[in-house]
Amino acid sequence: MKPAAVIPQPTESEQDFLPLNGTDYVEFYVGNAKQAAHFYKTAFGFQSLAYAGPETGVKDRVSYVLVQNKLRFVLTTPLRSGNEISRHIDKHGDGVKVLAIWVDDARSAFEETVKRGARPFMEPTVEKDEFGEVVRSGIHTYGDTVHIFVERSHYSGPFLPGYRSWKNAYNPADTGLQYVDHCVGNVGWNEMNLWVDFYGKTMGFHNLVSFDDKDISTEYSALMSKVMSNGNGRIKFPINEPAEGKKKSQIEEYLDFYGSPGVQHVAIATNDIVHTVSELQQRGIEFLSVPGTYYEDLLDRVGKIDEDIKPLKELGILVDRDEEGYLLQIFTKPLQDRPTVFFEIIQRKGAKSFGKGNFKALFESIEREQALRGNL
Ligand code: FE2
Repeated sequence: MKPAAVIPQPTESEQDFLPLNGTDYVEFYVGNAKQAAHFYKTAFGFQSLAYAGPETGVKDRVSYVLVQNKLRFVLTTPLRSGNEISRHIDKHGDGVKVLAIWVDDARSAFEETVKRGARPFMEPTVEKDEFGEVVRSGIHTYGDTVHIFVERSHYSGPFLPGYRSWKNAYNPADTGLQYVDHCVGNVGWNEMNLWVDFYGKTMGFHNLVSFDDKDISTEYSALMSKVMSNGNGRIKFPINEPAEGKKKSQIEEYLDFYGSPGVQHVAIATNDIVHTVSELQQRGIEFLSVPGTYYEDLLDRVGKIDEDIKPLKELGILVDRDEEGYLLQIFTKPLQDRPTVFFEIIQRKGAKSFGKGNFKALFESIEREQALRGNL
């Protein structure tokens, strides 16, 4: 297997036009936000943070905001049919609509990206309430997915103007989920480089690492991937496209069911993956599994690690090493009935890569699930 190409990174000054502080929130459009909020609280240990709906003056939708450490998820559902949110759900099922990015200047983020070719989604808009003001703006990315830039330095409310604090008697313990490590997009045939160029040219990202179909293929199916990162590395967006194989690529299955390009997985960091994954499994979350043989020669492949092999094997946690350290990772099964978006749980111990050594074992596992659905 040839090493993945590592592309030289541009200097700091070339990226100054779009400074990004990190992920602000991830918004899902879902069929039933009340029930989804309960699921994410129960299964993943999120806490109630904020609410918007008819009681707060929003007439067409209801949104619940959940928090866990630095993670903020917004679950939004339409109150009537025939609007943009209900059409989104009809086409895509439950899925990620917004990858929101925390910035110091949302007006400048909009101007600089639109000037470089981004399609506007939301003109810079000032939102105010008794806690201060927030400026937001937005641009389109792949499929119906959008990026919203959030400038909140003059705001002290629970989430955004228009939301009220949401207190609830049900507060399950958190599971140690910390922050968004990366968000992966699936795009169509021959579209990967188009979106790589989009993140490069309009957002000033650089290509951190590339994987071709030789790196990511099994006997049956293949995909290609390039990881785009902003200057300080706080925002990482890998982009996948399907590649030809004997059978259907997992990316094609996603595109068939999502109905367009979209977010494939959100990778969430933890500081103790054994604790986090045992909690999630006890709360009913199902993960992809690898054969027990994966663990037989694990230490030969990755060298010495701090963790005992036994709990990793019991939980199905994968390990990979790069020049800088190692990482532990595991992938949930799809989080809704359509085989579309899922989560990765990741603990980094020095490694800045994405688990290339696990791709084969992992994709064979995905193919077993795909075959069960009759889509391989
Ligand atoms: Fe990932």
